[in-house]
Amino acid sequence: MIRHSAERESAEVDTYLNEVLGLEIPELEAGREHAHDAGLPRIEVSTAQGKFLQLMAEITGARRVLEVGTLGGYSTSWLARGVGERGQVISCEFEPLHASVARENLQRAGLSERVEIKLGAAKGSLENLIAAGAKPFELIFIDADKRNNVSYLELALELSRAGTVLILDNVIRGGAVLDDAAEHGANEADVRGVQEGLRWLRDSPRVSATALQTVGAKGWDGFAIARVL
Ligand code: SAH
Ligand code: DHB
Ligand code: MG
Repeated sequence: MIRHSAERESAEVDTYLNEVLGLEIPELEAGREHAHDAGLPRIEVSTAQGKFLQLMAEITGARRVLEVGTLGGYSTSWLARGVGERGQVISCEFEPLHASVARENLQRAGLSERVEIKLGAAKGSLENLIAAGAKPFELIFIDADKRNNVSYLELALELSRAGTVLILDNVIRGGAVLDDAAEHGANEADVRGVQEGLRWLRDSPRVSATALQTVGAKGWDGFAIARVL
């Protein structure tokens, strides 16, 4: 059978995967809804992507995870599941409403004791962690303002050890990464930020990286994944 409208169907396949693999965690999906009801944008990772983040934390054996961009705490919750009871997630967010919704959601999901939300511009929060001599993180998920991806990558390196895994969200953006950034008007700096982040991953002697395109509930997008050498 010839398949048309791959994008619509890939969203249906995500629904199927959620069912057949039993991916949804009721407390986390309730938090997603609570965030939407509070007016937060619907840009959190999909359920399957959230489970992917949990698995990455588990596979790397991460006990310390750093996240840049909390929103309503949906990806944060999956990462918090991944680090286990004795692990810790530090997540950076500069919108007070987002941080407070995230704190409520984490509380209701029973995960708040493993998560610390740093309120403020993420660059400053990462600089503070470096200045305070924070122990290295084993997994770092970068998912905030894409224009600052290179800054976040450079700061993330300083908070890493050999073997730390870096994951960047939204590196494809429906193919926008191919375009001249100037075509994207207000998002020009973000498109450029994604492109510069990818070139940084190529050029940095301290990482080995790839990127994977994804389709599904969030349309056509992708993750970059790197290992700190
Ligand atoms: N990781 C979340 C989605 C994050 S959306 C999930 O998948 O569930 C991006 C978030 O980054 C938004 O909440 C936005 O307010 C925050 N953000 C954007 N720029 C920021 C900055 N400079 N410092 C800190 N947070 C920022
Ligand atoms: C946007 C941001 C995200 O982190 C995401 O996963 C999807 C969309 C955005 O800013 O539009
Ligand atoms: Mg994202």
